[in-house]
Amino acid sequence: MERQQVTAKRSLTQETEDLLNRQIAMEASSSAAYLSMASWCEMTGYENSAQFLYMHSDEERGHMLKLFHYVNEAGGHSLQPEITGIKHNYSSLREVFETILQHEIAVTNSINEIVNHCYQIKDFTTMNFLNWFVEEQREEETIARRAVELFDLIGEDGVGLWTIDKEILSLGEAVHSGDAGED
Ligand code: FEO
Repeated sequence: MERQQVTAKRSLTQETEDLLNRQIAMEASSSAAYLSMASWCEMTGYENSAQFLYMHSDEERGHMLKLFHYVNEAGGHSLQPEITGIKHNYSSLREVFETILQHEIAVTNSINEIVNHCYQIKDFTTMNFLNWFVEEQREEETIARRAVELFDLIGEDGVGLWTIDKEILSLGEAVHSGDAGED
């Protein structure tokens, strides 16, 4: 059977496929941005934050691949996105984590928009698939918010930044294991 005949029978609409490819681009961009932040942290001496961000970058690539496989398995075509506009330098560690928090909120909004679209057109299969991302975003936003809060709680003077850098690594581990509390 030719591919054209197969794709004509799929349940994934073109609009949903386009939205999922948009999300693929966002996850790829997240992975690249966090890798760049990891490099800046490592170069600047924030070794724990660098380790956290290297892991986070890998996680974002995992998110991208999860979407990649879903789109192709559903009869669509996952598109490798162009990655441009990566920032290489930051003025402070606080700026890194404030940028992450803003970015994760934007990702949550994007996921919610796609879930809402799927609900409207009754694509419950894709909606169910996206539930994993809804939960993941709840965790990622919590980690980023807690990280930004550390700067005010601990303060950046004296050994403050050293302490914040140390706490950031354990923060990621605590949220992933469910010990960081809920908002
Ligand atoms: Fe996969 Fe943090 O968005």
